[in-house]
Amino acid sequence: MAVTRTIIKSVGGYLPERIMTNDELATMVDTSDEWITERTGIKQRHIAAEGEFSSHLAIAAAKIAMQRAQVEANDIDLVIVGTTTPDLTFPSTACIVQAELGMTHGAAFDLQAACSGFLYGLAIADSFIVSGAYKRILVIGAETLTRLMDFKDRNTCILFGDGAGAAIVEAGEGRGEMSDRGILSSHLRSDGRYRGLLTATGGASSTQSIGNIHMDGREVFKHGVTNISEAIFEAMNATGFGADDIDWFVPHQANGRILEGVARKVGMARDKVVVTVDKHANTSAASVPLALNHLFESGKLERDQLVLFEAMGGGFTWGSVLARW
Ligand code: ACO
Repeated sequence: MAVTRTIIKSVGGYLPERIMTNDELATMVDTSDEWITERTGIKQRHIAAEGEFSSHLAIAAAKIAMQRAQVEANDIDLVIVGTTTPDLTFPSTACIVQAELGMTHGAAFDLQAACSGFLYGLAIADSFIVSGAYKRILVIGAETLTRLMDFKDRNTCILFGDGAGAAIVEAGEGRGEMSDRGILSSHLRSDGRYRGLLTATGGASSTQSIGNIHMDGREVFKHGVTNISEAIFEAMNATGFGADDIDWFVPHQANGRILEGVARKVGMARDKVVVTVDKHANTSAASVPLALNHLFESGKLERDQLVLFEAMGGGFTWGSVLARW
């Protein structure tokens, strides 16, 4: 039976020019390259320039994805921007991106799911496409997370960086079988009872300021491995695929040790795990599309390969998406 599938047509990524190494960070706060590398796998992060906002990073990534998909702004029906660090409280960063790309029809909105923003966006885009509401959607994860950083807090300032990734997804035809190309299953979860474990302390309604990131690192680590693994098992149960069937694991890049813990728990071979956290730290909603972009640019990603995405972030929010490229 013919069904509509959401094909991931292209991906693009953008990282700000300025790089801050662990050694440079160690001149600002009591830490060391050795400590950061051992506990997190991070070696460096990119920092947005003064006057460079999340929308600028989003647009740069989107233009690459659009060029690779060979689509113009007015071929796109909807823009979804996953971000925790919008340019403004309103209008949405997505509306800014829509205008700057020259898109004069359709719709645009921001999505706040912290580090899971892109993954949530992908799952929502899939629902819109499968329902027939939209044909082609630009899904972006864009963050200037270092703006939320207290560079005197060594518990958090070592972990995050700025960047953006984007994907063009569009309607394609499948047979309703697991051999179809496109998104095969998506699983979104949240549990607000744990919202205090990872939080930015400000907000328009509460403090009229943006606040700083606070985190109980050990608790986040434990929940991260458990929640992400569960979401992956859900995807495997829904599709019948096991770890051996999956060609590429494109996880949220929070911490190298979380990636290792999850890969071990779900039985994923190490050489299938895409790791970019060493190069740009945790870029929150941008991290999954940046990792996908890295895989694409490596030339190793082939048509019809199975790609498993996962993310987890503040809220807590988490989930998985399994797709055939
Ligand atoms: N440099 C040097 N020492 C440090 C640093 C630092 N940057 N940060 C903490 N320490 C010290 C602590 O003060 C503590 O010292 P003490 O024993 O004298 O009290 C010691 O190191 C151990 O601290 P812990 O917090 O227990 O260290 P842990 O091994 O848990 O590592 C880390 C901390 C890296 C944050 C870890 O808990 C972690 O990775 N958690 C996951 C959090 C994460 O990845 N969050 C990303 C956002 S959430 C997401 O995207 C899913």
